[in-house]
Amino acid sequence: MKILGIETSCDETAAAVVEDGAVILSSVVSSQVDVHHPYGGVVPELASRKHIEAIVFVVRQALRQAGIEQKDIDAVAVTQGPGLIGALLVGFCFSRAFAYTLNIPWVGVDHLAGHIHSVFLYGSAPEFPFIALLASGGHTGIYAVLSPTRAECLGQTLDDAAGEAFDKTAKLLGLGYPGGRVISELAGKGDPHRIVFPRAFLDRQAFDFSFSGIKTAVSRYIQTHPDTYRDEMEDIAAAFQEAVVDVLVEKALHAAEAKGYSRIALVGGVSANRRLRDRMREAADSKEISVFIPSVELCGDNAAMIAAAGYHYLKKNGPPKDWLSLDVYSKTASLAF
Ligand code: KG4
Ligand code: ZN
Repeated sequence: MKILGIETSCDETAAAVVEDGAVILSSVVSSQVDVHHPYGGVVPELASRKHIEAIVFVVRQALRQAGIEQKDIDAVAVTQGPGLIGALLVGFCFSRAFAYTLNIPWVGVDHLAGHIHSVFLYGSAPEFPFIALLASGGHTGIYAVLSPTRAECLGQTLDDAAGEAFDKTAKLLGLGYPGGRVISELAGKGDPHRIVFPRAFLDRQAFDFSFSGIKTAVSRYIQTHPDTYRDEMEDIAAAFQEAVVDVLVEKALHAAEAKGYSRIALVGGVSANRRLRDRMREAADSKEISVFIPSVELCGDNAAMIAAAGYHYLKKNGPPKDWLSLDVYSKTASLAF
């Protein structure tokens, strides 16, 4: 079954063709980073307009790269939420028109469920159940994944998402947007232990996160070292990254132990972080827990993960009957998908 996936929840216009929820035939991601860069963050109105300009080309390119035509597509899956409403609506409306015209099944997919499914698109996929640590720009949470269509949220961030903390810290340091990759590159050259920023473990038995304190600590460091902080950027970046990674790794391991699971998947934009990938593997190794992390291109937003998730929903439930009256949503209430 060939599914066309479409993703426009934030600042990437993406389309992909995935076979049977596992084999990527094409994956095209058109980034708007350059458009939003001067503003230091995503401007929702600009994002919607850019999606409208790009969507037809991106879908055509995905079909071309897959070497297929419209008539070869068996179903369409699209991100329904969470995300920016105007941005989501572009992919959502396009996908419904596409499915309606071709008279093929359509399914709306939760973006977070999509991120979790990115792990099935990579070499060896974990068996169920497993723990998923989802760390992205908009969300950070820990999930017990029970089947391709069922996950239970064990905890999530009470304030900033991990990626948001990277982005805000990069902004404080004058490094531009988005900040994750720049901070991790700088951090690679710094000493992670010379400066120490606070780790918010909250209740150590629980799986909630808080990242706003680390960002505030960086801000305070800059204020108290106005003459020297520019020469210390690499150490500040390394210390910040280490604090975030410490919390993510400990909570994920603890969740696996608490549930008695022997598999952890790292997904979402922040899982592209080299230090996080290495530290998670190292820590899990000593506890005989297997770690599954998608390739870097599949960590960030893409449409292959949406097509993969869509495949499993369609297989289990079929297309939603009321699909033409559904709407997009900006926030996930709960991820019991
Ligand atoms: O999953 P994603 O592409 O979009 C959302 O669903 O939010 O995640 C984007 C986030 C951004 O905050 C970005 O700064 C962060 O992922 N990110 C990273 C790295 N690459 C991207 N954070 C840390 N280290 C990285 N190498
Ligand atoms: Zn995402």
